[in-house]
Formats: sequence, structure tokens, C-alpha cells
Amino acid sequence: MRVLTLLGIAASLALVPDALAVKEKDFKTCSQSGFCRRGRALAARAKEASSWNSPYSVDASSVAISPDQASVTAGVKSLLYPEVKFELELRVHDDGVVRVRMDEVGGLKKRYDEASSWALIAEPVVSKTVQWTAAKDCIRAVYGPKKELEVVVSYEPLRVALLRNGKAQVQLNGHGLLHMEHFRTKEERKIEETSQEEEQVVLDTTNPRAWFEGDSEDGWWDEKFGGHTDTKPKGPESLSLDISFPFHPVVYGIPQHATTLALPTTLGDDATYTDPFRLHNADVFEYLASSPMSLYGSIPVMYAHSEESTVGVFNAVASETWIDIWHAKPQSSDTHWMSESGILDVFLLPGPTPADVFAQYGRLTGTAAMPAQWSLGYHQCRWNYVSSDDVRMVSRKMDEHDMPMDVIWLDIEYSEEHKYFIWDHKTFPDPVDMTKDVAAVGRKMVVIIDPHLKRTSNYPVYQEATERGLTVRKPNGQDEYEGWCWAGSSSWLDCFNPGSWKWYQDLYLLDRKREDGGWTWAESTEDVHIWNDMNEPAIFNGPEITMPKDMVHYGGWEHRDVHNINGMLFTNQTWQALKARSTPAKRPFVLTRSFYAGSQRWGAMWTGDNLGTWEHMAVGLKMVLANSIGGMPFAGSDVGGFFGNPEPEMLVRWYQLGAFNPFFRAHAHIDTKRREPYLLDEPYRQMLKDILRLRYAQLPIWYTAFHQSAVTGVPILRPHWVMFPKDVNGFALDDQFFVGDSGLLVKPITTPETTEASVYLPAEDQIYYNYFTHLAYRSSKKGKTVTVPAALSEIPLLIRGGSIVPTRERPRRSAPLMKHDPFTLRVALDKAGAAAGTLYLDDGETYAFEQGDFVYRDLAAETKSKVLRISSRDLAASPRLLQVGREVSLDVYSPGNAYAKEIAGVRVERVVVLGAGKPKKVTLGDGGRELVWEFVPGVAAGGKKEGTASVLTIKDPKALIVEDWDIVITL
Ligand SMILES: *[C@@H]1O[C@H](CO)[C@@H](O)[C@H](O)[C@H]1NC(C)=O
Repeated sequence: MRVLTLLGIAASLALVPDALAVKEKDFKTCSQSGFCRRGRALAARAKEASSWNSPYSVDASSVAISPDQASVTAGVKSLLYPEVKFELELRVHDDGVVRVRMDEVGGLKKRYDEASSWALIAEPVVSKTVQWTAAKDCIRAVYGPKKELEVVVSYEPLRVALLRNGKAQVQLNGHGLLHMEHFRTKEERKIEETSQEEEQVVLDTTNPRAWFEGDSEDGWWDEKFGGHTDTKPKGPESLSLDISFPFHPVVYGIPQHATTLALPTTLGDDATYTDPFRLHNADVFEYLASSPMSLYGSIPVMYAHSEESTVGVFNAVASETWIDIWHAKPQSSDTHWMSESGILDVFLLPGPTPADVFAQYGRLTGTAAMPAQWSLGYHQCRWNYVSSDDVRMVSRKMDEHDMPMDVIWLDIEYSEEHKYFIWDHKTFPDPVDMTKDVAAVGRKMVVIIDPHLKRTSNYPVYQEATERGLTVRKPNGQDEYEGWCWAGSSSWLDCFNPGSWKWYQDLYLLDRKREDGGWTWAESTEDVHIWNDMNEPAIFNGPEITMPKDMVHYGGWEHRDVHNINGMLFTNQTWQALKARSTPAKRPFVLTRSFYAGSQRWGAMWTGDNLGTWEHMAVGLKMVLANSIGGMPFAGSDVGGFFGNPEPEMLVRWYQLGAFNPFFRAHAHIDTKRREPYLLDEPYRQMLKDILRLRYAQLPIWYTAFHQSAVTGVPILRPHWVMFPKDVNGFALDDQFFVGDSGLLVKPITTPETTEASVYLPAEDQIYYNYFTHLAYRSSKKGKTVTVPAALSEIPLLIRGGSIVPTRERPRRSAPLMKHDPFTLRVALDKAGAAAGTLYLDDGETYAFEQGDFVYRDLAAETKSKVLRISSRDLAASPRLLQVGREVSLDVYSPGNAYAKEIAGVRVERVVVLGAGKPKKVTLGDGGRELVWEFVPGVAAGGKKEGTASVLTIKDPKALIVEDWDIVITL
């Protein structure tokens, strides 16, 4: 949330986005950012030059292969500054990822080199089977199971290429834009005294330095913006690097931007945007619905895709970064990365499938944490629920209207004078009792804790932090930095300081005393979870609403070096704190606004302060998809829009969309009208109730998808290209998607007055069923667009033939209350009369699953010699379970584990088979008990007809979830 309301400007204005658009002047364009200007000018000179060669080259005599062949290092120098030394290092990891690092050595200062140490889960294992061979002009390594991969470092000019079967996949410095500005003194380069304002001196082409770096010290030593001066004590130290994908026409990734999933161009005659994409975590008030501007989080990972393969790059940089995208040739994607500081530390992900690149990225930065199951339910938030009684009332009203809800949220006004942790007792006199009342029906609370600390003597959290020296410093490294935020004059906890970790985590101890005698949050319970907002950090009086870049963190690093990581570190500490407060540990829920590569290890993000407009509803989905493939799958955008008062139609559509976001929360600005779902008039109220119930019925699908994402790194929401990488028609699709591998294909409606939707069916010979009406659609090998009904009460939701979808259809007040509920299985047959699915279950809140306490079922249907057999088998006991990143050891799994015992009586209460022929007999097991069934004739899966599918409903087979069974249908 941002400050405008404080100034008394009514949020209703927010419904006129053009009149009150984001104050673009609050945020830099590339031309207002010195290093971006320099980077783009370099690229422009390279483009205009008749011949352009990178001045960087490898000194062949310095190339050294480590004795174990694990890595190769080489000295690099630039023609322009022969006396400056750089070192290049390459390593090939076990899984084929290539890491390329370059740093200045023996320079006047040290570049920031710790970004990867925060982002990576561990130091990657280097391959032992790679063989490097050095030639006169290059060094190469051939590797991979079939020796199909090759990495080549060319010496002059320096270039790095990753090839598959001889074809270049990724190329560094192919356009010659690599430039690591070395540290220098102000006097080093004598040029005529030209003032910063009149810097257009004619380019001196006889001066190679001017040819390459430009002829002025543009923004080298300080920079002004919006009344702030950035003092740049280290001078210029930016890093420019071009990364091309010569045979991949589409690129995705680098969230977070409000734009399409397939990234549009920023350079070239018909470029979509004139500015590069920017990564610089920022609190952008009323952001534009289509823009390359920075938003709250930054993940510098990019995927490039073609019909043939998917590859990726992860650029572990933490400073402000701008990225230009263009297509030098129709089949290529070309990108130019400009970062303000930091070493070069780039990981090349060889793919070749989407699943491979996600696994490769997941092994580096970790996969998403397994969430508490309740956190997949519905979250009700508002700025603000104003009192304990208000909270109780909302919880009660949801019950009165039979609307499920798991979490009720408190924004900043719960706290006294925005001193987080400290309840305002005038309005919240009994926080612990209030939480207990909410928790009585299995619900939780989420309360906001921001990283700014009110500078006041009656706030123990600030007092302790400042006494211990745990806050961010001013440029002199001594004095505490002070800025302005919700709490007024504030200081910021410096989570880069390891000394802050235990101190901060101990604030959350519930009934235990702190060893150091410090303050603890006694007025809290295990049912209170946390929302970290404003952690970019947002600072109302700072440049671009954030911290001045010359402030100093632990270790002497400037804020400029670490900016994009800052928010992640705070979230980590919050997560660790919640995990540590109970024994045995319970899975924390932490929502963060700011994020970086690795944040997925600590929970959920949302797309920040969106507007209540159709445009924002639509782009929110694209942003969630981009975050999903960016490794941050627990994502959602605020249902209803943060600003504005959505009309009922919009609200209904937004709930439909939210019910298909991994993170499902309604939220609203303090100046908006109350809009809890029970407040709507009929027929809208019933529509919202139906949507909420649909989400709860489908919780097993979401939980299974989260689990799969946690072990494989594959996103929960899967864009079309991820599911059908060879289907060119789907490369740019970003308004419909699949949920995990459940087979659910959804296209949420994001336009007003809509009654039907065009849904693109993938290029495959397959049947798709309408989830609600069972209408069968047929796709073809060329792909096909079909029209699906979408009246206001309807969501275009299809099940792909060949899927088995488990649901729990008994309405409950909260997710934990569904623990022993029976299951419904929807078996959507494909043309061959087959289907498959999985179901993962565990206790949903502890870490016992890591000790093997879980149930993982392999569901299958198969038709053979006039018998359709639907079966359930123990998947954990079978070798099909793929594992990446997170360690869920199967050694400790046993079918009779404690959780399996706990749900021993849970059964399947209904099996609905779509597209089957009429049965003669249905039994549980071969020759076993006859089951009761009902058959409504219709279109069969095996035929070619469209129309309503046949529906066979098997009533209460009493097949147990934890046991192996077969339902045998004689046709
Ligand atoms: C997360 O916090 C733990 C300490 O609780 C620390 O060891 C780890 O380095 C932190 N990681 C990040 C990325 O902050």
C-alpha cells in the first residue's frame, strides 16, 4: 500500500487510471539512470558501427584447467585498459548447467559477489565427467549423457556459447556488449571540463576508449533524481552483457512486470516498449497495466523457447538491472542486460524441455516450500478489519452464509502507531482470545509485520534493534539511516547482518523466554501467521520511494549492491521465526510483496496494489503466470482489486479468477466500501459461494500440484507452452492455463458482459470435457479454438481426456475440517479409454511428511478387452516419483505410516466416469462386491462426435484412499 491516502486523496479516483496513472516521474526511465544510459549508448554505437568487436579477450597463456577438470579459469583483459585484470571462471554442474563468472581482480575496490550465495540453496555439485580441451583460440568441454552438449569459450573476442548437437543455444557477448566497468579514481581519465548537462561532445573515433565507453563521464560520480543525490562513492562499476538465443524466437521470465507472458520487444522499429525491462524492487503506486517498469519483486531468470528446445539463463545479480529485448533475426531472441554493480555470475540452463529448465533452476535456487494446506484456502483481507469484534463478525458472517474461509487478515491498523507486533488495545483489547475464537473452526490469522521500525523510545523492538546495531547505516557507515514510512520516522532492520537473525526470530517466541532477556511477542499464538509488506523497502521520502543507494549494509556493502535481495532476506527471517516458535515445527505461512530468486523457499507473493479494473484483472493473471515460471509459484493477485469499488459483475469474475490462482486472497484499500462476499445481493452472493466451494472441492488438486512443484520445480499454473512445447500456436497464450498436471484447463473471464469464451485446445488428437456440463470437445493435431459458455455464473473449465481428478465435495467452513472427508474421482477418459492422475496427501501442517508420513496415490484407468479398470496404487512405493531440490526421502516412507493410519477410514464416495460405454456390471475388484451405478448415455470418448459425454456415476464404492483397489467395469 502507498501513501496517497495519507494525503487525503480519495481512492475512488483510482477508477480513472489514465487521469491518475502511476506517477511515472517518480521512477526513472533508462535515460534517467546513468548506467542504463551508458549501456544503451554502447549498444547503439555497436549497432551503428560498420565493424564492432568486443575489446575483451582471453589471455590464452593464462587458461588453467583445475586438476580435477571441475573448472577452468582464464585471465581476461580489455584492449582499452590493458593494465586492468579480470578473471573468468567456468564450471559445469552435474546436471549440465554451466556457470560463468567474471570479476575484476586486484582492482581498487571489490565488486559485490554475494548475490548467488543468498539465492542458491547450496554450492552446486560440479560434474566430474567433463573434459576440457584447450585449442589455440578457444577452450571447450563436451559433455552430457550422449555428449550432445558443448560449451565453448572463444578467446578473441571473448565469447561463451552453449551448444546442443552443434547448434548454439545460448551465447554470451555475441553482440560484443560485454563491459565490466573497472574501479578507477576520479582523476584517472582526464577529459576537458564539461558539465554534466552539456555532455554532447563529438565522438573522438581515434580514441578507442571513447569509441567504446562514450566520450563523457556520464553519471560516473554522482547522479540526481527527484531531488535526491546518489553519491556513488565507488564511481562507475556497471556491468553490461548481451545474451542471445540464436534459435529461440520467444523469451519468457524476468518477473515482475505488468506485461504479457511472452516478453515483448524493447528495441527495434516496431518495439512494444521504448524502455528496457527494469528489475529494481519498487513500490509503484497504481502501476500501469502494460509497462516494462519495475514492480515489487525481481527474478533475473529468463527462458528461451522454440519448437525444438527450451533453455534458460539465471543472472545472479542483485543491483538495479535493465534488460533490452529484440530479435536480431526472426528466429532469434537477443537480450542486453545492464546492471549497476556486482560481478558477472550467470548460469546457463541447457534444458532441453520446459520440465528440465525448471528442474535446473530449482536445483539452484530451491523449489517452492510445501505450504500449509490451509493456506490454499480462501483468504479474507482488508485494510483494515478495525477491531477484534469486527474480526469475529467477519468470521461469523462467513459461517452464517455457509461460505468457506481459512484466513482472516489484519493490515497495519491493528498496531499501535504502526509499531508492528504491538496491538492497539483500544481496538484490539484481546488479540489472543480473538485469535482463539477464529481458530475454533480451524481458521488462522495473518497479521502484517513490515521491516521499518518506528524510532521511538516506547517501542522495544526498535530500541533493541538500535542498541544492538542491527539497523541500516548512513554512507559514513556509522550513523543509523532514518526515513519516513507508515510509522513516521523509522529505521530499517538490516537482515544482511547475521547478528539480526536470532534476535529477530526470537521476537516471535510464544511462551518461552528469550535467552538474552529481550522482548517477545506474547500477544500472539501459533495460529497467527505473517505478511511482510513494504519490504522493497518502501520509503516514502526516499528516491523512487525506496532506500537511497548509498546507504550501507552489514559488511560495508552499499544498498545499491543488494537492493533486489533485501526483501527476500526479511521474509526468510520471518519464515524461520514462525518455524522455530513451535515444537514440532509447523509450516509457516509468510506472504511477501518483495521477492528475488530463492524467495519461493519462504512462501507466497502477490502482485501488489492493483486497481479494480478489468485491465488489471487480466494482467494480474499474466503476472501470476510469469511468477509461476519464474520459480515463485505460490502467487496471486488481490481479488476485487486493491483500489476502487468493483461492481458485482467484476467481483464475481475476479473471484472466479482468484479461485484458480495458487494464492487466493480478497483485499481492499481503506477507502473502499466493504465487499466481503456475503455482502453482495443475490444472485451474486450465491455465485461467490459456489466459487468458494469449487475452490475448496478442488483443494486436493491444488495440494497435489504444490507437492509436485515442490519436488520437481515445475510450476503449479502451467502456461500452454509448458504443457505443449511443440505447439507454436500456444507460445504466446497467457489467458488460459493448466493446473498442475491435473488435466484442468481454465480460461478465466476478464472482460465485462461476456457470455462465452474462445478456448484454444492444444494441437493433439484429444477430447476435452466441460467440467460442469460434460460437453465433449475434440481437438486436432493442428489445435483448435472452441467456444465455451461463460455466462456470469460459469467458468470456462475443461478436463483434458486422460485425466483423473480428485475432489472433496462436502462443504466445510475451513480446509482443516475436511481432513476426513471422502473423495470424488472424476475419470475423464481419452480416446483409448484410459486416464491417469495422482493424489498427494499429508497432515497439511507439520514436517512429518519429510519423515515419510504421507499418502501418495497413483490413479489409473485402462480399457482392455471390454473391461474398464480404474485402479489406485501406492505411488510412493513405485520408482516413478521424481525428486529435485527438496529432500523428501523415500527411504523413510512406509505404507503404514502414522498419517496413513490417521486417514485409514477415508474413502472414495463417488466415481464419475466421462465418455465410457454403458456397463454390464461394476464390481470392486475382480469378481468382488457389485457396486451401485447410474449411466446417462452420451458421447463416448472413443468416437469422433462432439456433444454431451456419457456419464457413469459409481455410488459410494467404499474404496479406501490408503489401499490399493480396482473398480472393474464390464462393458
Ligand atoms: C535464511 O536465514 C537463515 C538463518 O535463520 C540463514 O542461515 C540463511 O542464510 C538465510 N538465507 C537467506 C537467503 O536469507
